[in-house]
Amino acid sequence: MIPTLEWTPEGVNFLDQTKLPLEETYVLATDYKQVATVIRDMIVRGAPAIGVSAAMGVAIGIDRSTATTIPALNEEVAVICETLAKTRPTAVNLFWGIAQVRDLYNELAAKNTPIREIKAAVVALGQRLYDEDIAACKRMGAHGASLMPKEGTVLTHCNAGALATCGYGSALGVIRGAIEAGHKIHVFADETRPFLQGARLTAWELMKDNIPTTVLCDNMSAHLMSKGRIQAVIVGADRIAANGDTANKIGTYGVSILAKEHGIPFYVAAPFNTIDLATAHGNDIPIEQRDAREVTHSNGKQMTPDGVGIENPAFDVTPAKYITAIITERGVLRAPFDESIKAMAQKGTN
Ligand code: MRU
Repeated sequence: MIPTLEWTPEGVNFLDQTKLPLEETYVLATDYKQVATVIRDMIVRGAPAIGVSAAMGVAIGIDRSTATTIPALNEEVAVICETLAKTRPTAVNLFWGIAQVRDLYNELAAKNTPIREIKAAVVALGQRLYDEDIAACKRMGAHGASLMPKEGTVLTHCNAGALATCGYGSALGVIRGAIEAGHKIHVFADETRPFLQGARLTAWELMKDNIPTTVLCDNMSAHLMSKGRIQAVIVGADRIAANGDTANKIGTYGVSILAKEHGIPFYVAAPFNTIDLATAHGNDIPIEQRDAREVTHSNGKQMTPDGVGIENPAFDVTPAKYITAIITERGVLRAPFDESIKAMAQKGTN
């Protein structure tokens, strides 16, 4: 399995996704500030991977603290959580991951647990969340496999694969699950300007697994759909509102409209912690604006004239009406999503 991130005695080790596919190098984060930088600079990216990284960031912050009293540690934990929460605004998994470790810390600190034991517990939680993320991806793969064509081409946008999770992937996990179940799938990967998660990352990890893959420029899928060359679309998600509206990588919204127009099913695959019940509607999801340089430059080379205006929203929102189904580790959600999401949330994990 592709090692996206890993807790080690020295720190959290991250596969540097900014260097792929040309270099397979790792960045070791030895404190929480370095974990924050790794998330902000997209050395690690993808909502589930960001969530577990943030959890490990809080854990390493607590583990490396030199505080000798709970009140002193409380103050440090507040700063650690705030620093990590400021890294990227859209993927709700980031805030989920921070809350998981912070809540455990608060519980143990309230009981005056010895600091040594608190450290061991939060580190163990970070590692458990890592294992649970992989297990959730595998379950998404099992739930979603039968929705994939028995034989055909599936379009994906961005990278919702092993690299965007702790392993196996959400959208690509469903594709992997279908292939393991005997489906013959060829993947079309949108290149996904400007960060090129599709061209660089999805193509890289699928090629490593010998899954037939073709990279498309972002403007090609309409043409291929019109020729009957795409049988299904599957993407990941960064935040799903309570009504099913889904924020995902910029360009996803357009692909969903194209799929609807051509009668092609459009699936979202995401762990249940990507659903934000506190956000009622997609319009309420904060959209990250990234540096203009990601658009003006490619591989360090300037592509646009000096001074031209640049937009760089990192995500867009696909309205629930364009989504055929949302595949989670707990099962498959269908419209009306506000009702199916609420019912699944009430049912809990069982
Ligand atoms: O900016 P990124 O690369 O972090 O954005 C990633 C995406 O939009 C993914 O599709 C999403 O996080 C789902 S990952 C399983």
